[in-house]
Amino acid sequence: MKRLIPEYLENATLYPPGRPLEEVTRMHGITELTKLNANENCLGPSPLAIQAVRESAGDIHLYPDNSAFYLKRKLADKWNISAEQILLGNGSNELVQFILMTFLLPGEEVITAKPTFLLYGIMGHVLGGRVKEVPLNNFAYDLERMTDELTEKTKLIFISNPNNPTGTIVTGDEFERFMGHVPQDVVVVTDEAYGEYVTSTDFPDTRDYVQKGRNVIVLRTFSKAYGLAGLRLGYAIAPVRIIRYMEKIREPFNANSLAQKAALAALDDAAHVTKTRENNISGLAYLAAELQRLQVSYVPSQANFILIDLGPRAEEVNGMLLQEGVMVRSMSGYGLQECLRVTIGLPEENRKFIDTLERVLQRE
Ligand SMILES: Cc1ncc(COP(=O)(O)O)c(C=O)c1O
Repeated sequence: MKRLIPEYLENATLYPPGRPLEEVTRMHGITELTKLNANENCLGPSPLAIQAVRESAGDIHLYPDNSAFYLKRKLADKWNISAEQILLGNGSNELVQFILMTFLLPGEEVITAKPTFLLYGIMGHVLGGRVKEVPLNNFAYDLERMTDELTEKTKLIFISNPNNPTGTIVTGDEFERFMGHVPQDVVVVTDEAYGEYVTSTDFPDTRDYVQKGRNVIVLRTFSKAYGLAGLRLGYAIAPVRIIRYMEKIREPFNANSLAQKAALAALDDAAHVTKTRENNISGLAYLAAELQRLQVSYVPSQANFILIDLGPRAEEVNGMLLQEGVMVRSMSGYGLQECLRVTIGLPEENRKFIDTLERVLQRE
């Protein structure tokens, strides 16, 4: 008999998303929750984006603009590229899938890191690839070891920069050296979902590589600093020839009309992004100082979250935090059983997390 389901799909794992508020309330009866588990923007969306969604709500019986003309034009201006170099996705997650579907043949290899954003590995497997996961070095991508893994069969390399869940970055120099070793027939994807939060001046300008015609795809999203995670919108920047192939995979109307309008408005609200960045910088500094006081080790972060090491009690602490109404992210799915990942919140949310953590750690 024919095999109904391919083996690689049979053995695939599901992506474990951060739990939504409603689920925690429903299952645990907790209504007062501080949500620091999914790296969302604690300031919420830009007021301009909310207004744009309200104003467009009466038009949702109409299909979206499939070409996303205005949004692509605005993004092209922002990045100083052409609109043909942009592809929109239903979240940048969808773009990860498009990339794999466009390039990967069954049995070909995908190189990424471990631990990193889980979706690259999960989708790589689901689409029949061989995923090679290179361990991080001191919580950061080890690009040298990743180049050692290059073979004739390598098709794609995924780099989360900054890396989820560690918040570390690949620097411009590291990326430049790395690109010197990557053959022309390998596609490098730099997923910069948290790029807007980065303060380091060493962060690479990967758009340059696209402009030079390298097979580089830059992923960006409206889900994080732009505060539009619920609307699902991300974009890819790549050479036009790559975008044209990926367009063939894309379903029509994948970027919905409210998302397009909200994104246009959010791009006009630079002040909201600045406020978001400033809140993140002070939140990271506060958490770093308090974690040091509590003698909890953490990884210095360039993103809107921080990875903390709680030793063997991490999962138990996670459960106790939840009982106290503080939602953070278990890292057991990432193979970091002794760590938790905490999104940077508003000052009062960060305080609530630290106060609760301090209390919980004092328990036997
Ligand atoms: C590294 C990374 N890339 C992409 C995403 C998903 O972004 P989107 O909401 O645009 O699908 C996340 C979300 O947590 C992420 O951490």
